Amino acid sequence: MSKLSLRNLARTAAAVAVAAAGACAHAQSGPVKVGLMLPYSGTFTDLGKGVTNGFKLYVQEQGGKLGGRPVEYLQVDDESDPSKANENANKLVKRDKVDVMVGTIHSGVASTMAKVARETNTLLLVPNAGAGEITGAMCSPNVFRTSFSNWQPGYASGLLAAKKHKTAVTISWKYAAGDESVKGFREGFEKGGGKVLKDLNLPFPNVEFQPLLTELATIKPEAAYVFVAGAGQVKFVKDYAAAGLKNSIPLYGAFITEGTLAAQGDAAQGLQTVLHYGDGLKNPKNDAFIAAYTKAYGARPDVFAVQGYDAAQLYDAGLKAVKGDTKKKAEMIKAMENAKIDSPRGRLTFSKSHNPVQDYYVRVAKGTENVVTDTIVKALADPSPDCKIQ
Ligand code: PHB
Repeated sequence: MSKLSLRNLARTAAAVAVAAAGACAHAQSGPVKVGLMLPYSGTFTDLGKGVTNGFKLYVQEQGGKLGGRPVEYLQVDDESDPSKANENANKLVKRDKVDVMVGTIHSGVASTMAKVARETNTLLLVPNAGAGEITGAMCSPNVFRTSFSNWQPGYASGLLAAKKHKTAVTISWKYAAGDESVKGFREGFEKGGGKVLKDLNLPFPNVEFQPLLTELATIKPEAAYVFVAGAGQVKFVKDYAAAGLKNSIPLYGAFITEGTLAAQGDAAQGLQTVLHYGDGLKNPKNDAFIAAYTKAYGARPDVFAVQGYDAAQLYDAGLKAVKGDTKKKAEMIKAMENAKIDSPRGRLTFSKSHNPVQDYYVRVAKGTENVVTDTIVKALADPSPDCKIQ
């Protein structure tokens, strides 16, 4: 090669390097790509919408930016279908090249998302699904949850039920969330001196509750605990009242009145539930949140909206610490681990496994509000013995 063409080659290489650096700098000031993988159809549609609305509300409040960068959304309807989860998550990661995945509601789908996030080292924020393994055996530095582990609300519900009752029967959908919620309930109930007589279940998202209610009436426990959710909980609470069980076997559950009081009508009135949020919770952040959410969407927020809002808050805390430079992953993660979030639910921090440490409230359904009457357990953390992050 002649001296001249060598010099040209060197010049071209230098120009390419400069252009690449420029493109990189540009990429870091362009939009952050947020992949929302949530149910926008099926039993959990309203829950997926709540998370989405909550996330977008926080971003709007920051002038449309997180960590100084505009936000671009990519949305996938996961249909709460675990068999499609791998393909859907890979669409976001490999095709759309998102900076962060946010999802989802269903525990089985979320476990697959966590697997994809681990394999591809993509940041994942779980704004609902409680699968224990996500912040347990499968925990990972790049995976955070802003909701709960299924054990947490189950355990807190068991503590409450044990204050008044000695025996209980559980009813749940047969999948990770149902199984783990019931396990948590049993632990809390037994700790308070109660005994679970029988676990009844049906496949997700089946709503043929009648045979189970008949069996429950035959066993006659002092109380019942149920885990079904979304559209399923509306039918369950109505069927329970219609079967004449509401007054004879007090019903406990965490989510069963959340976001659905208008649809459940009289059947839900007076039901006592336990959760890490209540729309009647009185604190300045919640007052502001309810006002802003209602103004933006014309409907009251629920726990799903709060969990989505807090996922955006958490991501913002990470991005701010690195001034929007998503390549500084370790620094971002450190900031997120140490974040103290002013959540509508109260102060939100994270355990070593990246799962929320939070208070559990007793609520009573009155009109269309879940009115907070007490705190059953403060700063409850999932023990997560199988998580080996640190
Ligand atoms: C879950 O699958 O983890 C799940 C779904 C809906 C809920 C709570 C947990 O309301």
